[in-house]
Amino acid sequence: MRILQLSDTHLRGDNKLSFRVVDTRRCLDATVAHLKSMAQKPDVIILSGDLADSGDLNAYHILTELFSPLNIPIYALPGNHDRRDRMQNVLKDWCPSDPDVAPHICYTVEMDDLRLVVLDSTHPGSHSGHFFPAVETWLTGELRKRPQVQTLLFMHHPPFTTGLGVMDEPFENQQLFAALVADNPQLRLCFGHMHRPIITQWQGRLCVTAPSAAMQIDLDLSPEGGDTFVMEAPGYLLHHWENQTLNTHVCQIPTNVTFDGPYPFADSVNPVGPSD
Ligand SMILES: [Fe+2]
Ligand SMILES: [Fe+2]
Repeated sequence: MRILQLSDTHLRGDNKLSFRVVDTRRCLDATVAHLKSMAQKPDVIILSGDLADSGDLNAYHILTELFSPLNIPIYALPGNHDRRDRMQNVLKDWCPSDPDVAPHICYTVEMDDLRLVVLDSTHPGSHSGHFFPAVETWLTGELRKRPQVQTLLFMHHPPFTTGLGVMDEPFENQQLFAALVADNPQLRLCFGHMHRPIITQWQGRLCVTAPSAAMQIDLDLSPEGGDTFVMEAPGYLLHHWENQTLNTHVCQIPTNVTFDGPYPFADSVNPVGPSD
């Protein structure tokens, strides 16, 4: 089983450059071309948030247009640059949200011997991560259903500090989430938002953040870091589950890499509010 996690495509729907620098449509075209060329296609693709750059409706339509012909099941969750109402309208099939936990986009994808649990860590108008009590109740119930089965948990915001300066913001109800993660050894946690691959252990569980399929956050570990990006190679994670072993590969998308930057995150609606 191959689960490809693609994150932070930051697609604009207005043909402008993201942050005045990045042609995210071109990045997406390179990603789709790469997916088509893969000899071993993923069984599932997870889009782990910040699909659009400013929640632009047209960005979601473009994503559907480009990804649907791949004929690979796709699941999505929102990031702070997304509009979850628009995702649920345009990307309905990619967001099979459990109505019990609405308006949060949370659901479980059941496989024979693997589970994918998708969580919504966003709150309209907020840049940082949240773990609402309603989501906690829902997650507790989901994890009780098959506690012996290896489970990949996907959400946009990591709850741990990363050392990337201003990107380390408070995560609401972190302790609530920490207790649940500590109680569930079947979990591996997979995040987006950081625009860099980071591997750590938190509450005894292996955690990994995905690189961006567009631009990477500059590796500046000073307190002022985390506020600029560089044009390093775009990438993704491939979670490979076989013989009861779960390997996570950090992969790159073939493109002309310039390593230009650092650039500021300019000219983007961030965070996206409920009706921007
Ligand atoms: Fe992002
Ligand atoms: Fe984000």
